[in-house]
Amino acid sequence: MEDSIYGPYRPQLEKIEKELLDDINALRSELKEKNGMDPVEHCLSRIKSEDSMREKCVRKGLPVTTESALTKIYDAVGIRVVCAFLDDIYKFRDHLVALPGAEVVEEKDYIKHAKPNGYRSYHMILRMHGRFYAEIQLRTISQDTWAALEHHIRYKHDLGNANEELIVSELKRCADELASTDISMQTIRDMIFEENHKEESETE
Ligand code: GTP
Ligand code: MG
Repeated sequence: MEDSIYGPYRPQLEKIEKELLDDINALRSELKEKNGMDPVEHCLSRIKSEDSMREKCVRKGLPVTTESALTKIYDAVGIRVVCAFLDDIYKFRDHLVALPGAEVVEEKDYIKHAKPNGYRSYHMILRMHGRFYAEIQLRTISQDTWAALEHHIRYKHDLGNANEELIVSELKRCADELASTDISMQTIRDMIFEENHKEESETE
């Protein structure tokens, strides 16, 4: 077997992955307890495959080495948290930032500032214990649905489609409609929550 691009460090990457998942699950349980509803629709994590990591090194013009994989590329460890509501995304963000040993290297709020194609998500790169990096993507269910479809389309029909322009603009329109629905859903949730709290304080 060929040597791993991660050298002897795979167990450490797995440890970082677990540490982050544990932190996410801690807040998940806390919010579930508090609001009576699981804030996470699903959560995925992975160590980037050997092939993808090698391919990414080449694409970025980096030597295909363990050093590149661990110190020049930041998504050897990747975690995606798909939340039901927009405000939960920012709760997970704040929780992760406060995790001991985690240092924020980069944050991209593609929710407040969507990509021109309509892509929305909250991205963070964390350096863990001064050493290993992890990429966290936080999104709503709608944002995740859109990203999955866009990814599918992009890889199925890379260019050469006569409808390319129309497809791109229709996808953008869908992204914007979903974003507006996310805001409405958040408002509905807030109204339900306020109503429940009113009842609670009336019975106190
Ligand atoms: P990297 O070189 O991959 O680190 O690119 P970058 O630093 O420009 O990363 P960015 O934070 O924009 O995106 C990283 C990841 O977010 C990608 O690997 C995808 O998983 C996801 N992503 C970013 N943009 C899009 C998009 O337009 N569509 C979809 N479906 N996913 C996206
Ligand atoms: Mg990146």
